[in-house]
Amino acid sequence: MARAGAGAPGGHADGPLPRHADRPLPRHADRPLPGRTMPAPGRTITARGAPRAPVRDAPFPPVRDAPPPPVRRAAPAPLARAAPAPATRAAPAPVRPTASARPTPTPAPRGEQRARSTRPVGAFPDPPPVRSHGPARVLAVCNQKGGVGKTTTAINLGAALAETGRRVLLVDLDPQGALSVGLGINAMELERTVYDLMTSRDAGVHDVRISTEVAGLDLLPANIDLSAADVELVGEVAREHTLARVLAPVLPEYDQVLIDCQPSLGPLTVNALTAAHGVLVPLECEYFALRGVALLMQTIEKVRERLNPGLAVEGILATLYDGRTVHSREVLARVVETFGDQVFATVVQRTVRFPETTVAGEPITTYDSASGGAAAYRQLARELLAR
Ligand SMILES: Nc1ncnc2c1ncn2[C@@H]1O[C@H](COP(=O)(O)OP(=O)(O)OP(=O)(O)O)[C@@H](O)[C@H]1O
Ligand SMILES: [Mg+2]
Repeated sequence: MARAGAGAPGGHADGPLPRHADRPLPRHADRPLPGRTMPAPGRTITARGAPRAPVRDAPFPPVRDAPPPPVRRAAPAPLARAAPAPATRAAPAPVRPTASARPTPTPAPRGEQRARSTRPVGAFPDPPPVRSHGPARVLAVCNQKGGVGKTTTAINLGAALAETGRRVLLVDLDPQGALSVGLGINAMELERTVYDLMTSRDAGVHDVRISTEVAGLDLLPANIDLSAADVELVGEVAREHTLARVLAPVLPEYDQVLIDCQPSLGPLTVNALTAAHGVLVPLECEYFALRGVALLMQTIEKVRERLNPGLAVEGILATLYDGRTVHSREVLARVVETFGDQVFATVVQRTVRFPETTVAGEPITTYDSASGGAAAYRQLARELLAR
């Protein structure tokens, strides 16, 4: 779907990528990270279609010979799930070259943690109620790295948005069908899926769409059939626009469409980026978090330039954060340092509740409504709507 908007010129290469650090880094998780090459100041990526300079695929900025950035310590989070505070981002604190000794890791309570934050909790207002629906804003939840929380984010952000009264359509664009499974749908039993929608003129989006247990949350399901779509679309005219074309008839009915992408930058993902207004990038808070992000950004730029001028980076979401480890805090601080305001203030904690929800086949907002995980995605929904 072509959209009006400022394109972003230049900066991306069709040729081979710069020699980025796709080589293994030393394993020393809970120690200060050694110096690494990072994008120079000013080479940050800006949101919403603004011109940007390419980001090399360096994993971390140089670290001075100092302890990890001190992160403001909040009071230990209560373990009770009754009133979990929304997770918020720890802003990068200045690094003070003090003692050479390693800092004592912050003793933190077990279980779910709150990310430390310099922002006031609850900074995002409740969104106003909606009286009419549509046209939908389409977001692709995308990162070619596997297991970073794309599907978890699509399901739970979608459910949290639906709780605010928004009408939400989730699109499973991964042949693994995890989005469908995560919502308790056995897509193997369905007659029609996204595969039919994209490859056959006989199936319309209204035929494929199904409603979920969550009010206001609908799904376009997928199963392994979708893995054949890549090949079948090869001969199509404007094949990159296929998803945009088939989604167009339902956009007026929804406020938000979330597309769950597969962990690759192949044709299906390009279709998602072409159909989207924005990209939400979940980034796992672990050592190699930034590996491959440059490639993703280059792909986004190419799609913006050639297929979808209005495509923006909606935001980067830190996921699988474990505030008990220096390592996780350090990675988060560096993600913020690298991407600045593009990083959502909301941080999703690592908690066993999420795998449990997959087994249960429902979002965390209904599975454990009072949990920290549910609070995080509700806050993300508010943050998204406030942007
Ligand atoms: N915040 C979290 N805490 C703990 N586990 C999580 C969290 N988010 C996701 N998970 C779990 O991590 C695994 C991978 O998550 P998910 O499927 O959402 O990632 P993905 O990026 O969609 O993966 P893929 O690239 O394979 O599609 C799942 O088992 C999920 O339940
Ligand atoms: Mg997934």
